[in-house]
Amino acid sequence: MSAKKNKYSDNKNVTILDHPLISHKIALLRDVNTHTNDFRELVEEITVLLTYEAFKDAPTTEAVVQTPLEKTKQQVVVENSIAVVPVLRAGLGMVAGVHTLFPTAKVGHIGMYRDEETLEPKEYYCKLPEGIEKKRVIVLDPMLATGGSACAAIKLLKDKGCKDIRQMSIIAAPEGIDKIVENHPDVKIFVAVLDRGLNENGYIVPGLGDAGDRLFGTK
Ligand code: PRP
Ligand code: URA
Repeated sequence: MSAKKNKYSDNKNVTILDHPLISHKIALLRDVNTHTNDFRELVEEITVLLTYEAFKDAPTTEAVVQTPLEKTKQQVVVENSIAVVPVLRAGLGMVAGVHTLFPTAKVGHIGMYRDEETLEPKEYYCKLPEGIEKKRVIVLDPMLATGGSACAAIKLLKDKGCKDIRQMSIIAAPEGIDKIVENHPDVKIFVAVLDRGLNENGYIVPGLGDAGDRLFGTK
């Protein structure tokens, strides 16, 4: 998949997918008339496509496989080398998409919500797989708005000793990408689509509204 020219085209740490299938699914995801069931399915499908891209340089090792015809050597992804960490709630909707392509990825959870007034992230839960500091860790959150939640999750993981961290989001505002690039220049970012910006309430525009509410039907 090749990326269209955008303000991050020269930043090798920022990948914005550009593909007709993704664009088609994003259109359905944005649609206010798309209901919870379809919304959940679309988040999962787009995450499969993002995972394909983000795993391009996954650590591999050589395995020997017996085909019906002969023995052959084949590269396989190193077991136990990758963990995903969804940011609750909305990140949960992306886990199944990663597992579709890489079923053995371990899953940690970070609970975070944005204070509606200050837009500052508040952490309320954290449970991470044992030995996470030795793995490549992919933070999952469909919405990268101000970047406050993502940066807080990344900092928490760094404080636990993680050194190889990536961010995977479906829709990003430039403000969110810029915040990660500035505060965590070592973190690679994968997003399906780059939106125009944020509105006065810190919502991504045009965006899709509140991802958690649309995934779980809470509003
Ligand atoms: C949403 C979203 C991100 C965060 C993004 O979570 O899922 O975690 O906002 O915004 P930011 O980049 O400005 O930090 P929210 O606080 O709505 O919690 P929820 O997922 O439980 O609904
Ligand atoms: N969180 C969401 O769910 N949507 C936004 O647009 C911004 C933050």
